[in-house]
Amino acid sequence: MTRISTPFDRTSTADDVSEGIDLTGKRAIVTGAASGIGVETVRTLARRGADVTIAARRPDAARRVAEAVSADTGNPNVHAAPLELTDRRSVAAFAEAWTGPLDLLVNNAGVMMVQELTRNADGREMQFATNHLGHFDLTTRLHDALASAADGARVVAVSSSGHLFGPVVFDDVDYRFRRYDPVSAYAQSKTAEILFAVAASRRWAADGITVNAVNPGAIKTDLQRHVGGTLATPEHLQKTVRQGASTSVFAAVSPLLEGVGGRYFNDNAEAAPVTERLDDPWLLVDTVATYALDPEGADRLWALSEALLAA
Ligand SMILES: NC(=O)c1ccc[n+]([C@@H]2O[C@H](COP(=O)([O-])OP(=O)(O)OC[C@H]3O[C@@H](n4cnc5c(N)ncnc54)[C@H](OP(=O)(O)O)[C@@H]3O)[C@@H](O)[C@H]2O)c1
Repeated sequence: MTRISTPFDRTSTADDVSEGIDLTGKRAIVTGAASGIGVETVRTLARRGADVTIAARRPDAARRVAEAVSADTGNPNVHAAPLELTDRRSVAAFAEAWTGPLDLLVNNAGVMMVQELTRNADGREMQFATNHLGHFDLTTRLHDALASAADGARVVAVSSSGHLFGPVVFDDVDYRFRRYDPVSAYAQSKTAEILFAVAASRRWAADGITVNAVNPGAIKTDLQRHVGGTLATPEHLQKTVRQGASTSVFAAVSPLLEGVGGRYFNDNAEAAPVTERLDDPWLLVDTVATYALDPEGADRLWALSEALLAA
């Protein structure tokens, strides 16, 4: 399989990668877009003419963002709707309230490195519950809306280079046997998001739905709240929020990815697979671990996710 390269790179912004693309008539949802990278993702999709819904757990903040984006872009069709990804009822209510086709779904919400082992009401570890399982539930519930998009639909799983710090531990996703560690729990959840893209693309390609995963890069946002508000990445490797939103927008709208699914993009280019992580993690930030692209792992995660949500 040839790796996809593009004219864009780590300096490209969300505006750059979507220049000249008309999204009028397209309907999009961006989760967790009341702050950070999601706001710029929404702003760019709205600027290109899409009807965009911000799915967020702080409705007031989401409404304020929607109003600001509308004012900024002149696009009145920016909405806010409540979504708490760790609560199955909230996910179900959001999906049930959605009517008509859905062209673009950006699974952007996330939490990073929650310091203490925390579980949701279903007993699921919080990073896995938020980053993967809630989005799995949401996306599978929205399958029919995605399948009814006139020109095919795209889903973007906003993962992280943090996935390189560990695989999904299928026999213990909730840390009931192993000692909790915030890094491996974040890594597990972000690996899961890539595996979801692999499995969903294989299952849903015939329905016209493609799913890819992206790493936004290192961007100073609220995401670092659990690690003292600081970004560990060396300054020269950090990006602005507008650069950070570029790879999500690229995966959501670029004609270069027509019919392409199940892949992982970093800095607007497909990442090179690696079978080990060297001691210096920064050497490998633009690679993808082979365990995250493994089709068997992807199928196993799909079955596990269905079972966990049915329990
Ligand atoms: N910034 C980086 O350096 C970086 C690097 C790699 C990957 N990423 C990924 O990029 C995505 C966006 O992150 P960001 O940097 O823009 O951080 P952010 O500003 O903290 O955005 C994350 C959003 O997710 C929302 N969220 C968290 N838990 C949720 C839940 N249970 N239900 C619904 N929404 C929830 C948060 O809402 P609240 O504000 O209400 O908590 C927040 O608005 C994340 O998936 C993150 O893992 C970021």
